[in-house]
Amino acid sequence: MPAAPLNPLAQASNDALKKDCPVVLDLLSERGKRFFFPAKGILAQGAEAKQKARTANATVGIATENGAPMHLAAVSKYFNGLTPSEIYDYAPSYGKPDLRAAWGKKQRAETPSLGDHPVSNPVVTNALTHGLGLVGDLFLDPGDVVLTADLLWENYNLCWETRLGASFDYFPFFDEKLTGFNLPGFKAGLLRHRGKKVVVGLNFPNNPSGYTPTRAEASAIVAALTAEAAAGTRLVVCIDDAYYGMFYHPGCQTESVFGALARASDHLLAIKVDGGTKEAFIWGLRVGFLTFGVKNGTAAAYKALEDKTAGLIRAYVSNITNPGQSVVLRALNDPEFRAQQAEKVATLRRRAEVTAAECRKAAYADCWDVYPFNSGYFMCLRLKGVDADATRVRLLDDHGVGTIALGKTDLRIAFSCLTEAQIPGVFGAAAQAVRAVRGH
Ligand SMILES: Cc1ncc(COP(=O)(O)O)c(C=O)c1O
Repeated sequence: MPAAPLNPLAQASNDALKKDCPVVLDLLSERGKRFFFPAKGILAQGAEAKQKARTANATVGIATENGAPMHLAAVSKYFNGLTPSEIYDYAPSYGKPDLRAAWGKKQRAETPSLGDHPVSNPVVTNALTHGLGLVGDLFLDPGDVVLTADLLWENYNLCWETRLGASFDYFPFFDEKLTGFNLPGFKAGLLRHRGKKVVVGLNFPNNPSGYTPTRAEASAIVAALTAEAAAGTRLVVCIDDAYYGMFYHPGCQTESVFGALARASDHLLAIKVDGGTKEAFIWGLRVGFLTFGVKNGTAAAYKALEDKTAGLIRAYVSNITNPGQSVVLRALNDPEFRAQQAEKVATLRRRAEVTAAECRKAAYADCWDVYPFNSGYFMCLRLKGVDADATRVRLLDDHGVGTIALGKTDLRIAFSCLTEAQIPGVFGAAAQAVRAVRGH
């Protein structure tokens, strides 16, 4: 069957990209090229009525009473401090404007390399998983190449490979001696796809290893991507900042590489995927953001990308949780927010420090190597001479300790949910499990 003709609004967005950022237009998937925000339909008529309907507004698909969204006491008794319209109304598909502005301001303040370079207004997503899904929808056709570290959050595969048919290529995240980021491996990965379109996935602090590159490594990553773009590769760089702010070592690069990459090259579209999930400790509230940056980005090009993103949101889920967005906005404006956040990060830092001392005890040297970690929620052990899943099962069955086995050799431990007092016992039990599986 022939494809449906392109909607004029999609055509207009594509034309805006073609004029200002032609490489970005070229990077879009077929679906990405087809998408647009239906600005002239029900939503636009509703918005117009909101401005002008003085007598009665019969446009919106909610029910109202006494000038507010109708609601039940059985529901409202669970909310404290939000108005009915902050809870029950629909939010716009792009997200609540005040929240988008506040998050954009926060991003810029935390990303000095961005300077005054224009980036898009963040579009609100149903937390980071949804943001990653949207990146895939916009930029991945079946067979398109994704380059990521071999240590990655497994949901990337489900999201981009299983759902969208992308083809993953991996670079070894750490060097052979496990001292730090494997820059030669990363460069070799890029080189394998020179001259083509590649979606690169970067995630620091990394899940599962808990590693954030040092400042020198981060600069080298930016330089490698910039050089690759100059060599003719067309790049989408997806920067998953899920664990942003959870840095425990003074050597960590504490600024997102989005800042430098957003102004690196016309051939490199940087996309920041971030949100409240881990930063504000609100896992189940589901509030995240997608932000675009490219060297030759203009207001018109960013609007085209925001429209396509909001159109996809409208098509799948219509809009994102209003109470979740309202809570995040109020929290960002709360004078106590930063201090409370810092207190929780300090708790995690202490757990990371105890973990670092325990896991490297000489008594465990025969059991595992420790992948470098300096940030985030996790650390990973590379087990010696035993199967990771067999060790995981033994640890669970014999000691009641839950961990995650990854691949044949790696065991991921979330120190983020262990008390300092629990940590020594967990590593002691892990060593016993390794030896039990090994048979001595
Ligand atoms: C690296 C990484 N990215 C994204 C996510 C998804 O977060 P969210 O709960 O906001 O969808 C996670 C969650 O574990 C993660 O570890």
